[in-house]
Amino acid sequence: CYWDNGTILANLLATAVACHVPARIVVGFVDAVDAAVGRLLSLDTRREGALALVTLGNATVKAAGFSPAVQPLAFETVPLSEKEIDYPAIEAMHEASSLESEREAVDWRSQASVVSSTGTGSPTFSPASKERFFALRPRGDDEIPRDTIEEVIQRRGSSREFSRESISFKQFSTMLDRATRGIPTDFLYPEGAPLNDLYPIVHAVEDLSPGAYVFHWDRLALELLKEGNFRREAGYLGLGQEIPADCSADVFFLTDLNMVPERFGNRSYRAAQLEASVTGGKLYLAAYAQSLGASGLTFFDDDVTDFFSPHAAGKSVMFLIALGKSAKRRSR
Ligand SMILES: Cc1cc2nc3c(=O)[nH]c(=O)nc-3n(C[C@H](O)[C@H](O)[C@H](O)COP(=O)(O)O)c2cc1C
Repeated sequence: CYWDNGTILANLLATAVACHVPARIVVGFVDAVDAAVGRLLSLDTRREGALALVTLGNATVKAAGFSPAVQPLAFETVPLSEKEIDYPAIEAMHEASSLESEREAVDWRSQASVVSSTGTGSPTFSPASKERFFALRPRGDDEIPRDTIEEVIQRRGSSREFSRESISFKQFSTMLDRATRGIPTDFLYPEGAPLNDLYPIVHAVEDLSPGAYVFHWDRLALELLKEGNFRREAGYLGLGQEIPADCSADVFFLTDLNMVPERFGNRSYRAAQLEASVTGGKLYLAAYAQSLGASGLTFFDDDVTDFFSPHAAGKSVMFLIALGKSAKRRSR
């Protein structure tokens, strides 16, 4: 699942940065059922598939010659669940969007990079609505908590209950700022626009009116779309659960799936999902680094788009994360 994958990738990228090891996510690789990656990892390719590779390392010179032959890894693993539910549509989609050959992988990567120079755009900005814009006020580098990445990952764990208390605008700004500084990948570029737009519903953030917002990543600012207390609506949009109603802010990730295929072909859904889930994973870390809580949630797709429309018309929801103070573990 891309959500779990994004969590692990966000943790890995953060750990790599902390260890000064360059890291890059690779999505354009040969992953057909009989591909070398599956064989190397001894995957049961009817049930398992590789979603992403990560390159790690400091090598400054290209390795000469070919890598030595490696034996398949055959580790015993603990089953993830007691019983598995089969979702044939997921297998069919994964296979249909697999790359069959080195040529296809190279073509996919170059296609993604050519069009990316123009980006996929930013949420529309109308100068007339300036008074509805709120510039983020994130913590400076000297105010960032000093816990190690290991401590933050150990502390991280999805909040099961939120306290309805406010978080500060500085805490909220820091989460958005730190989570949206780009992802090193073979399909996104630091200067390019992200694939997903972030739409927060703010319930309890000091110095910020409750309401629905869109985040302008290029201006580090929030635009108020509609003001109001939307705890009840957020609870409904998050599948009628208490978590999205009781947190301080929900952040929905929406993408225009009609634009993304031009750039990524039939791997576009993977690209949009992966970007959202890695950014979601970073929001988790930014929350727990500040001793706050977070929880990734499921949602009613079309109702979320309707709620943020007309601004979000035509976009599809990829991810939802609730942020705030955990009911059992209060902020320091
Ligand atoms: C695709 C996906 C959807 C999820 N949806 C919900 C949800 O709607 N409500 C909920 O309480 N937890 C949901 N979860 C579970 C939590 O966000 C969390 O991942 C899970 O409790 C594991 O806890 P951990 O993050 O502490 O490892 C979902 C997880 C995934 C991967």
